Amino acid sequence: MEASRRADSSLEISPSAAETGAARSDQAPGSEQDKKPAARSSASYLERQNRIESNARSYPRRLPIALKSGRGVRVVDVDGREYIDCLSGAGSLALGHSHPEISEALHKALLDEAPLQTLDLPTPLKERFIDELIATLPDEFAADARIQFCGPSGADAIEAALKLVKTATGRRGVLCFHGSYHGMTSGALGLTGAIAAKAAVGLSAESQFLPFPSDYRCPFGLGGTAGATVGAAYIETLLDDPNSGVCAPAAVILEIVQGEGGINPAPDDWLRAVRAMTSRRGIPLIIDEVQTGLGRTGRLFAFERAGVRPDVVVLSKAIGGGLPLSVVVYHRDLDVWKPGAHAGTFRGNQLAFAAGAAAIRHVRAHRLDLHAEAMGQRLMAALDRVAATKSSIGNVRGRGLMIGVEFVESQNSAPGSRPPPAHPAMARHVQAECLRRGLIVELGGRFGAVVRFLPPLIVSANEIDEIAARFEDAVAAAQSRAATASRLS
Ligand SMILES: Cc1ncc(COP(=O)(O)O)c(C=O)c1O
Repeated sequence: MEASRRADSSLEISPSAAETGAARSDQAPGSEQDKKPAARSSASYLERQNRIESNARSYPRRLPIALKSGRGVRVVDVDGREYIDCLSGAGSLALGHSHPEISEALHKALLDEAPLQTLDLPTPLKERFIDELIATLPDEFAADARIQFCGPSGADAIEAALKLVKTATGRRGVLCFHGSYHGMTSGALGLTGAIAAKAAVGLSAESQFLPFPSDYRCPFGLGGTAGATVGAAYIETLLDDPNSGVCAPAAVILEIVQGEGGINPAPDDWLRAVRAMTSRRGIPLIIDEVQTGLGRTGRLFAFERAGVRPDVVVLSKAIGGGLPLSVVVYHRDLDVWKPGAHAGTFRGNQLAFAAGAAAIRHVRAHRLDLHAEAMGQRLMAALDRVAATKSSIGNVRGRGLMIGVEFVESQNSAPGSRPPPAHPAMARHVQAECLRRGLIVELGGRFGAVVRFLPPLIVSANEIDEIAARFEDAVAAAQSRAATASRLS
């Protein structure tokens, strides 16, 4: 791999002389150049993608690069530029890129001629995966657990979880939260807060959205414990009020740390209150750990911090070791499904079981949950220092290696006043400046104003410092560009 590049403007992503297929077809057939695949630039790949792929594509619009290889926390694009990857496959690459234990597990499965797809038939690889997963879950949850393997995505598992609780309770509605993200399939989208993503396909009549606690942008204007207490009381009132307009739900579903929603951690007391009120009323609590699962928040599973025991846990992303895999783990009392009640062709991906078992084993054996906690604290402290000197940063928040920095129009110094409006344009400029400096970050949150850090859990202290330094430089550049633009306007 190419040596790490300096964080300077040489990383500028200008669309250089793109060698398109059309250009190559000008060459004489049979010539030497014709035999060798010509090196193509990121710009060339992006231009071709632009012509052929759906208009729904999203990441390449803000991260205009074509990736070629990756190792550890770093990826290299087809132009040979290296980046620290704080996106890590939207959190699916807990061990980073090309991890030797994942590669070895995959090689072995292939050499052993493991059948690649086996529906829901048992296999040694599947059993090993289950053993690793069960050994990683808290004992009291694992003791009564049943597992449903689902089609490969997180959204597939959310759909399965919905079917499960509706079947078990005979109820239809589901309580979910503002700012939530559960996936892009119909049922999952119905539980997702982002209106832009679902306006065109209709809003779900079965979902009832509730306020999610937030210190910085508290829906009740209170923040802290007071805001969380009012939020919990509001849910309880809604559940008990015969005139609330909301029928007894089949479940409450939530993320312990909302990821796509802008890195919003739920306070432990609020979670315990929600768990207590749902338990008392026989309402299953579904915890969506698709993004938080397997060490990311500093705990193997994010729900462990508050000490709550869910009825249903939805897992995907990291548990497949980078390959597509999703499961619903739930209390056996909910297992009232008839044979074949849930099915799907791609529930028996043996390579994903092999990679997933290796990832889970490695995270547990090396206590990457604790490492994520320590590295997360280091990054948060560094980002707090950046925020103290940069007026465009309103808030830094997160848990473990799931961290968000919210950009605002101006820092609000008046104590007790509402936070300033979000500044999505600044967040986009910062993301672009980060990319120029060899740092991949993602956006999220309301209006896309939160820059999100989701590095692989194996990130080192030096790499954390490098991330923070590049980010600081990027914010300074974005702010000075904005200042120049406003002077000129
Ligand atoms: C919390 C959460 N749930 C569900 C999903 C959907 O997973 P997928 O994109 O694999 O369908 C995501 C994806 O980002 C997620 O973050």
